[in-house]
Amino acid sequence: MNIPIKKPNEIKKMRFVGQLAAEVLEMIKPYIYPGISTGMLDEICHKYITNKQKAIAASLGYKGFPKSVCISVNEEVCHGIPNYNKKLQEGDILNIDVTILKDGWHGDTSKMFIVGKPTVIGKKLCKITEKSLYAAIFIIKPGIRLREIGKTIQQIIEKEKFSVVREYCGHGIGKNFHEEPQVLHYDNHDDSIILQQGMTITIEPMVNAGNFYTQTMDDGWTVKTKDNSLSAQYEHTIVVTSDGCEILTIRSDEHLPKIITHKI
Ligand code: MF3
Ligand code: CO
Ligand code: CO
Repeated sequence: MNIPIKKPNEIKKMRFVGQLAAEVLEMIKPYIYPGISTGMLDEICHKYITNKQKAIAASLGYKGFPKSVCISVNEEVCHGIPNYNKKLQEGDILNIDVTILKDGWHGDTSKMFIVGKPTVIGKKLCKITEKSLYAAIFIIKPGIRLREIGKTIQQIIEKEKFSVVREYCGHGIGKNFHEEPQVLHYDNHDDSIILQQGMTITIEPMVNAGNFYTQTMDDGWTVKTKDNSLSAQYEHTIVVTSDGCEILTIRSDEHLPKIITHKI
């Protein structure tokens, strides 16, 4: 296993690109209302990334993905393709997943938005999914096993009788969009990987209101729940520090510290 350890000057670049990705999610919020299409939201993000940030939307063309961000609505789990014919409706929940490349380094983050007045189940699913991501972030420090991340997330999700998607996981990130290790969101009882200072990974739990099975649509990208239940996802890019972690993609609307420290 080759898990790259980033040097301080490399982490500085990842902090910068991480903040660009976070800013896209902050910027897009006021555009989310009933009637707007996911294609239009993608277009707004694309223009912001390209013209304002002078950065690259890393998803565009990645393994042939045709748009600049992924937008996954309701029962869509991930990799939703933005479309001008897909219009948002009151009560919809959607994930926007933004990956930016700038100066050779990647930042990857996503969050849920709710259109207009939330439904009870939609709001609960989003809250619990976010809570599971935050709980995982709060245990990270050098010396813990990678599997503790998945274990923490799985416990929180299953207590609520929701389920953790198995087929898609978080990942190492840096010069590459996806690098080692794979970060599972459930416990696979693999003790082999220990977190170390300078590792940069994403944590991005996908949580279904029903069972965890998924199906990929004929477009080759859009992943939906098999039982058509709602699905939610939140994602952050983090770096392991000497005594905890730093959230490289933190946003101003989040009520948590950017740097988390523990007694070692
Ligand atoms: N951003 C996704 C992730 O979190 C990957 C999207 S790949 C794409 O890993 F091609 F669909 F954009
Ligand atoms: Co990711
Ligand atoms: Co992502």
